[in-house]
Amino acid sequence: MRILGIETSCDETGIAIYDDGMADLPAGIVAHRLYSQIAVHADYGGVVPELASRDHVRKTIPLIKEVLAEAKLTPADLDGVAYTAGPGLVGALLVGCSIGRSLAYGWNLPAVPVHHMEGHLLAPMLEDNVPDFPFVALLVSGGHTMLVRVDGIGQYQLLGESVDDAAGEAFDKTAKLLGLDYPGGPVLAKMAETGRKGRYKFPRPMTDRPGLDFSFSGLKTSAANTIRQEITEQLTPAQVSQVKADIAYAFQEAVVDTLAIKCKRALKQCQLNRLVIAGGVSANSALREKLAQITKKLGGEVFYPRPEFCTDNGAMIAYAGLQRLKAGVDTDLSFKAKPRWPL
Ligand code: KG4
Ligand code: ZN
Repeated sequence: MRILGIETSCDETGIAIYDDGMADLPAGIVAHRLYSQIAVHADYGGVVPELASRDHVRKTIPLIKEVLAEAKLTPADLDGVAYTAGPGLVGALLVGCSIGRSLAYGWNLPAVPVHHMEGHLLAPMLEDNVPDFPFVALLVSGGHTMLVRVDGIGQYQLLGESVDDAAGEAFDKTAKLLGLDYPGGPVLAKMAETGRKGRYKFPRPMTDRPGLDFSFSGLKTSAANTIRQEITEQLTPAQVSQVKADIAYAFQEAVVDTLAIKCKRALKQCQLNRLVIAGGVSANSALREKLAQITKKLGGEVFYPRPEFCTDNGAMIAYAGLQRLKAGVDTDLSFKAKPRWPL
């Protein structure tokens, strides 16, 4: 079975073809393309929904043509078209939904609506080292922070989620306070590499009480207060850089510790030792290292996608769509985009 995946929920246009029957190709991805709109939104310090929609309109069809050409396939070689139906920015989602459903109608193929977070959750399945079910998944992106027990495709039990900012959002907001461009998460992580341990300490929110929910907005406020107190006009530019790196280190350490404490708790609660991390923040190497230590102590393992499939991409949508199609999903062309959609 071979399926086209279309991702347009936020600021990346991701297109891919996944084939589950070509064992000679790694992970079954036949071709994929990713176009990031970061440059479009950078001047505004965040994603501008109208600009995102317009750019998806410009890019989606050309990228689909490129992917088909690279794969040396025609629409007749496909078995379905999967598109991200939500959650996300409604205008951006509508572009992928409209194009996906129109192509499916024109090509006489099933149109498969995919939940964006299910895409992230299954992205580690595109790698060579694939976890067996059941496992616990930590989904950490710009819009979501969730812990999920996964017993199989479509068998998801939400264990906990953020009550306010998502982990990626906290990274981006703190990066902005440090004067970094959007999206600052990866740049803050890079900055933290030259930060000194122990110079600052930020809270590990909601870890002192039972439960698996998260809260990250207070951490950003702590970072803001520290930045205001510590970065003064008396400092030289070199000193300012060092203080910023120290703050980045302490902030990242606090986020990673908080996520790790909850992951450990979730694994214990579920009596499992396999952990999947996915979503943009799963590219963070400090987080990967910490979670590898924790799962190792439990005799288990942590699984994650390759860096390019941590953030939004079409491959994860094609993969999730194919699994859903096999499981008999509703492919009704009247399916609506869902800006809010529980997993
Ligand atoms: O999954 P994603 O591409 O988009 C959403 O669905 O939200 O995640 C993007 C988020 C951004 O907040 C970005 O700053 C964060 O992932 N991110 C990182 C790193 N790489 C991406 N955060 C921390 N460390 C990283 N290395
Ligand atoms: Zn995402």
